[in-house]
Amino acid sequence: MKVLIHKEKRAIVDGREYIVGDAEQYFVLDTKRDVATKYGTIAKEDLAKPSGSVLKTKDTGKEFILIEADYIDTYKRLRKLPQTIPLKDIGLVIGETGINHESNIVDAGLGSGALAIALARITKHVTSYEIREDHLAVAQENINMLDIKNITVKNKSIYDGIDEKNVDLVTFDLPEPWKAAGHAATALRVGGWLVSYSPSIPQVQDFVTAVEKDERLLMVKTVEIIERLWEIEGRKVRPKSTGIGHSGFLTFVRKVKA
Ligand SMILES: C[S@@+](CC[C@H](N)C(=O)[O-])C[C@H]1O[C@@H](n2cnc3c(N)ncnc32)[C@H](O)[C@@H]1O
Repeated sequence: MKVLIHKEKRAIVDGREYIVGDAEQYFVLDTKRDVATKYGTIAKEDLAKPSGSVLKTKDTGKEFILIEADYIDTYKRLRKLPQTIPLKDIGLVIGETGINHESNIVDAGLGSGALAIALARITKHVTSYEIREDHLAVAQENINMLDIKNITVKNKSIYDGIDEKNVDLVTFDLPEPWKAAGHAATALRVGGWLVSYSPSIPQVQDFVTAVEKDERLLMVKTVEIIERLWEIEGRKVRPKSTGIGHSGFLTFVRKVKA
């Protein structure tokens, strides 16, 4: 797989090259066919050139940079049936819990598989629960596309219990996470983490109430990560005028008692 980055979205300021905004990108799955872009057509023969080559559309002469698609290029193009958790939030889950290549994770709901895939990339194993077969099918497609081998998918409700034991991290992206807080406490090792992601504060309140009633769990914090984009073109430096969107709240909980 290859990525074509539209070169005109780059600007030269004081002799240096900058990407202006999000450089428009085309993801090329089939390198045996010409690629039609809104700026013109890239010939299939050019797609065989080395990563970093500058290609010109054969009809309009517009320039694109060709690179080999990386894991993250493919990840950003996963099929999203239910809404996925954004990278800014995934980053905090990884940073705060310290999970690594030896960690075992339980996740629910699987949804499109975005969180499960991101966690599986850096941990030993992820087991993810999902009740909807259509969501499960999309997630499985995404898992296969990225060739991820260490995810086990279970078509079960996490509200009915968690089969796994001695787990290092449990992640929830569920409509009613409070219904599974006790199950997470049973599944986790002492010192392990439970992180719940919810778009609305009433969900967070009910989840925290359930956590506080369980003496095995210690409420650590609820946070919202706000990502603000900036435009930097030479000395013209300012926040982007597009608004800051809301994604969700992350609640961090630790298992402190067997
Ligand atoms: C917002 S999506 C999760 C998105 C996922 N974190 C991702 O990044 O792609 C919520 C999912 O939870 C699933 N779900 C709802 N209740 C569930 C339950 N009791 N057990 C397991 N999955 C459940 C839904 O079907 C839905 O697919």
